[in-house]
Amino acid sequence: MLARSTKVPHMLQKKPFLPAISVLTIAMAVTSVAYGSTIAKTASVSSPTAATSSVTSGGVPTVVQSSCMACHGLQGISPDGGMFPNLAGQWKTYMLRELDHFKAHTRADPQSPIMWAMVAPLTAAQTQQVAEYFSSQKPASGHVYDPKLVAEGKKLYFGGLPKMQMPACMACHGTTLAGLPPFFPMLAGQKRTYVINQLTYFKSGQRVATHKGIMQYIATRLDQKQIVALAAYIRSR
Ligand code: HEC
Ligand code: HEC
Repeated sequence: MLARSTKVPHMLQKKPFLPAISVLTIAMAVTSVAYGSTIAKTASVSSPTAATSSVTSGGVPTVVQSSCMACHGLQGISPDGGMFPNLAGQWKTYMLRELDHFKAHTRADPQSPIMWAMVAPLTAAQTQQVAEYFSSQKPASGHVYDPKLVAEGKKLYFGGLPKMQMPACMACHGTTLAGLPPFFPMLAGQKRTYVINQLTYFKSGQRVATHKGIMQYIATRLDQKQIVALAAYIRSR
């Protein structure tokens, strides 16, 4: 399946065309975000409460069955065609952080209120349990809907937009789209509509890019056609 890379992003070697200043800014952001202050912030979400929540005979947390399955699927592959993200195989640390943002309403894009309602009743133990459960599920497999779009998206994913000083997505989300723990999400196999929505929300500022505004920097350099192509490539992996 996905070979999850734990390597540090290597945009510095791979993207010589970027002006030194923007490379430096982004590299600093990546470093301080991945290994610095946000860890302390996230620690409050993952407070090590004993997992008291129950599990079904099939090993699925009951809260997943009662509260998450309808939109994210029993094993984290969303049964819906589009706007509900797959969670299977997503990094636990990333999901805990997002769940925390939903709880605090600091993730407030037009789709977020659905999740605000979902996380409100969860105990700390249940939050840990669901993130653990979904992260241990097998990621979605890729699907190619439109080879031409996929090819366009792939080019952007690996090449970035030098003229716009936009680094390649690969630098942070990895060559296999597996992301980089603890904070860069896996993208592989993600639903197209969800990806299009999120890039659009980052672009408009409706979803605040909590990591030094990185994704807002990226998304404001993309036009709608490029966003659609990237979503097609991401879904294909
Ligand atoms: C009624 C549908 C629905 C239900 C039920 C639901 N979700 Fe969600 N979930 C969504 C939507 C829509 C989003 C995208 C929200 C956004 O764009 O801000 C989302 C996003 C998420 C994300 C962020 C994913 C990412 O890649 O950033 C996580 C984690 C998540 N949900 C976990 C859960 C958990 C755990 C439960 C059960 C307690 C749950 N969801 C129940 C609809 C739902
Ligand atoms: C310099 C690092 C970096 C680069 C380059 C980068 N990303 Fe991201 N990306 C992030 C971070 C960090 C997040 C987590 C969102 C946040 O900061 O709140 C993220 C989140 C995302 C999400 C939301 C995932 C989810 O589950 O909700 C998508 C989609 C995404 N990136 C796509 C891309 C695409 C497409 C590119 C290239 C055009 C790209 N990213 C380039 C760092 C990066």
